[in-house]
Amino acid sequence: MARKSNLPELFVLVLLGPALEVGSSRLPLVLNTWPFKNATEAAWRTLLSGGSVLDAVESGCAMCEAEQCDGTVGFGGSPDELGETTLDAMIMDGTTMAVGAVGDLRRIKNAIGVARKVLEHTTHTLLVGESATKFAESMGFTNEDLSTRSSRAIHSDWLARKCQPNYWRNVVPDPTKHCGPYKPSDVLEPSNLTYRETDVHGHDTIGMVVIHKMGRTAAGTSTNGLKFKIHGRIGDSPVPGAGAYADDTAGAAAATGDGDTLLRFLPSYQAVEYMRGGDEPSVACQKVISRIQKYSPKFFGAVICANVIGSYGAACNKLPTFTQFSFMVYNSLKNQSTEEKVDCI
Ligand SMILES: *[C@@H]1O[C@H](CO)[C@@H](O)[C@H](O)[C@H]1NC(C)=O
Ligand SMILES: *[C@@H]1O[C@H](CO)[C@@H](O)[C@H](O)[C@H]1NC(C)=O
Ligand SMILES: *[C@@H]1O[C@H](CO)[C@@H](O)[C@H](O)[C@H]1NC(C)=O
Repeated sequence: MARKSNLPELFVLVLLGPALEVGSSRLPLVLNTWPFKNATEAAWRTLLSGGSVLDAVESGCAMCEAEQCDGTVGFGGSPDELGETTLDAMIMDGTTMAVGAVGDLRRIKNAIGVARKVLEHTTHTLLVGESATKFAESMGFTNEDLSTRSSRAIHSDWLARKCQPNYWRNVVPDPTKHCGPYKPSDVLEPSNLTYRETDVHGHDTIGMVVIHKMGRTAAGTSTNGLKFKIHGRIGDSPVPGAGAYADDTAGAAAATGDGDTLLRFLPSYQAVEYMRGGDEPSVACQKVISRIQKYSPKFFGAVICANVIGSYGAACNKLPTFTQFSFMVYNSLKNQSTEEKVDCI
């Protein structure tokens, strides 16, 4: 009897031994989309000074908001049709599965900070629009204009280009030639996702995943959304399972790209579920991209994935103008923030 039960135990030790060893030297891990290095380092510093995984995700994303990473995170970027910058952000605790998020947040700079307050001071998950602004003010955030000279210039240039590009369809006047206001047209062209023109610039959301030494996970996002979006539009970023997802029993993931497409496939949730099923993070990320490709071959998007022992990976959908995706990694093994690239599939 004793021999019989010892044998499998030995196997388990042999199999898990190296993984645990590698895992422990790889953790903690900070992983984020795009080469937003200062965000990675801010998250790492937070962990080193004893902060939690949630603190790390918040400080990392807040760094990007303050730095206006690529003009696609924080104030003064991606004006919508009315010229206003609005923000989407989310933070998720993979231990408790609690989420705080804000969508279409107006006139508050620190969106991830407000998302954290939703997580900690309410039993809700997602607050939006003007009401989210009121909530933020009650939590002590400053109500201020998010427009800058740069965002005003981008918007007036767009108006001068007859409002191209825009995101309307089946309306009059013809949205490919004219500005609005638009009314519904009588003829409805079927939706054609396979032929969607993609602008690969201007959706560089920060998505961040943090795995702690003890395997605690958190994930978050922050973005100012799609440039020239219709007023009120919310993308994947503030939606749990879409923009990001974390679960201590499997791993964590985050997505970036065309939020209107990504949102429909819950890519972060799906990646975590693939990892739960035993896939390596890079394979989990690839499978998520392949699923979307079937319906929307020309979508712009990338996913980052990490499991609870600190393995990580990424994947992206290959386009003529987007063949490689850069992301940041910081773990104990590297002991510095490192930009890595993955070839899109
Ligand atoms: C990152 O931080 C350094 C040091 O504070 C600063 O010089 C640099 O401009 C920052 N990078 C970006 C992209 O803002
Ligand atoms: C979608 O657009 C492509 C390219 O114009 C075309 O080949 C295809 O037939 C269209 N599909 C539908 C369902 O309209
Ligand atoms: C990690 O890097 C810091 C400086 O960046 C250094 O002080 C520390 O000794 C390094 N740790 C290891 C384990 O190499």
